[in-house]
Amino acid sequence: MTEADRGDAPVSVAGLTKHFRRHRGERVAAVDDVSLDVGRGEMVVILGPSGCGKTTLLRCVAGLEVPTGGEIRSNGRVVSSAERGVHVPPERRGFGMMFQSYAVWPHMSVRRNVGYPLAVRRRPRAEIAARVERILDVVGIGHLAGEYPAQLSGGQQQRVALARCLVADPDVILFDEPLSNVDAKIREELRVELLTMQQRIGFAGVFVTHDQEEATAIADRVVVMKDGRVAQVGDPREVYRAPASRFVAGFLGVVNEWVGTLREPDGADRSVRVVSTDVGDIRVAAGNVPEGAGPGDTVAVIARPEDVGVSATAPGNGSNGWPATLTTETFRGPYIEHFLDVKGHRVRSRGAGRDRLREGQAVFVVTEPADLRVLAAKEAAR
Ligand SMILES: Nc1ncnc2c1ncn2[C@@H]1O[C@H](COP(=O)(O)OP(=O)(O)OP(=O)(O)O)[C@@H](O)[C@H]1O
Ligand SMILES: [Mg+2]
Repeated sequence: MTEADRGDAPVSVAGLTKHFRRHRGERVAAVDDVSLDVGRGEMVVILGPSGCGKTTLLRCVAGLEVPTGGEIRSNGRVVSSAERGVHVPPERRGFGMMFQSYAVWPHMSVRRNVGYPLAVRRRPRAEIAARVERILDVVGIGHLAGEYPAQLSGGQQQRVALARCLVADPDVILFDEPLSNVDAKIREELRVELLTMQQRIGFAGVFVTHDQEEATAIADRVVVMKDGRVAQVGDPREVYRAPASRFVAGFLGVVNEWVGTLREPDGADRSVRVVSTDVGDIRVAAGNVPEGAGPGDTVAVIARPEDVGVSATAPGNGSNGWPATLTTETFRGPYIEHFLDVKGHRVRSRGAGRDRLREGQAVFVVTEPADLRVLAAKEAAR
């Protein structure tokens, strides 16, 4: 995105900070110097643990909180500036909002719930009726137009909330864990539909969740937050495959970690670096070692379980292979999970499980240098 596009982005957040005061007077930086742009039609997912500031960030964008510092623009227009004392109220920012609680009105039919945002804007009746009908069909609940929320399932109620969001045709929708109250199966269904709708209608979204799978499934870009700050921004593959820190690696899924010392490059082969650890020497592709890491540094080598193989025979040169004992095999449907013991360290592997292995069997744990990554052992201090 160029500087010019950024100014015109549907949402552009710069240096945003929000402090709260707890009842004993202690200050909390719920959002701490966050900058973020959301492109046209882009789905940006804010992911992070409970209390990291996701909801606060979203509420600032929505206009439900007054930020302590920083600026928020929408399509080039300043909607919030702490420094200049600008605070455009939520209803005049033009964002759609969909939050965790269904927030549909129980005393109104589905049709009236969905038409409400247009009624408030005093649109003509015929136009409201036509748009409501169209949008109910889009979200797949046209047949429920006359029902009341109490007669609907959780998933159906969330569709009503989504239809009500879409009816005013916003170019940005803010979502705060909108699917967390519906059960797993419906949740996945709604998630897929939300994506399809987003591609069809073209709205941009800021979607808050603490669910890593949900985040990577729907995001064009993931923003990982920790303690009010941005820990990493990237496309889902990048944050999963190339996490910037141990925190991001661990938050995006299961990970094996071995802490050790980075060694001097070995001889002529500059394509591989070696880390000495308690489980043995680990060869890692040089490109997967961060620029700033030098010989003698304490580092962590990480591997996703799907990058850890189990073999009855010793692997060839070039791979890392450690003698191990298979402790547990778990059938997980799409894959088999193996827990292994390597010199008293537990290693986790996931795969198709083609070889029949016995618990207690002596095997080799096999990893490829290109699949491993080296990260600083210590998290950067705030
Ligand atoms: N109104 C408030 N007054 C004081 N502190 C607040 C207020 N709202 C939020 N906080 C604090 O700000 C921090 C961030 O809260 P926030 O609700 O943004 O987290 P979150 O990432 O959305 O968490 P969750 O995943 O649990 O919803 C927390 O430490 C919270 O206690
Ligand atoms: Mg929250």
